[in-house]
Amino acid sequence: MEIIFATANKNKLIEAQKHLGEAFNLITPADLGFDDEIPETCPTIRENAIQKAQFIWDKFRKNCFADDTGLEIDALNGAPGVYSARYSGEPKDPRRNVALVLDQLKNTPDNERTARFRCAIALILDGNLHVFEGICEGIITRQCSGIEGFGYDPIFIPNGFDKTMAQMTLDEKNLISHRGKALTLLKDFLQK
Ligand code: IMP
Repeated sequence: MEIIFATANKNKLIEAQKHLGEAFNLITPADLGFDDEIPETCPTIRENAIQKAQFIWDKFRKNCFADDTGLEIDALNGAPGVYSARYSGEPKDPRRNVALVLDQLKNTPDNERTARFRCAIALILDGNLHVFEGICEGIITRQCSGIEGFGYDPIFIPNGFDKTMAQMTLDEKNLISHRGKALTLLKDFLQK
């Protein structure tokens, strides 16, 4: 099955293709000649995912899905949340975002460093909208560790592990991550 994944993020594409497997051929807006940024201006992750999928459906009228993800840190009252991509300002810079989070948490004790990734995947199949969500609970470290993954992975240790998401293989991350959980729901739905 060919389906558009409405993203310009190569890491997300790799995670999704690996998780969904060969039965699904993921193409991106760039593959169809669209290189502009897809708007994500909504106040919630769920609405942003829907906005991105709807934008691509309106443009191409092809089955598509979009992912929006945020990191919610309890000691920062849920920030960066829906603003995760641009937390430290424009232009988007994941390293600067990570540095800002570590700085803001420098006086936060270990037991108050709880956080979660929240991922929403919006699918538009034959014009009908379906939304799948995945959450991964964990804690924020005091320094970066690991070189895999992307974004906030080097400072996030999922509950039950003693390493960051950036120290996991792709398969390990997909098994327990927010996106992996949402992709499992998406895959189950599409296979039905
Ligand atoms: P968006 O969903 O592309 O808007 O991403 C929001 C922000 O969260 C960006 O800064 C991403 O780098 C980061 N992000 C998204 N997914 C992940 C993930 O799986 N691990 C770590 N950071 C992520």
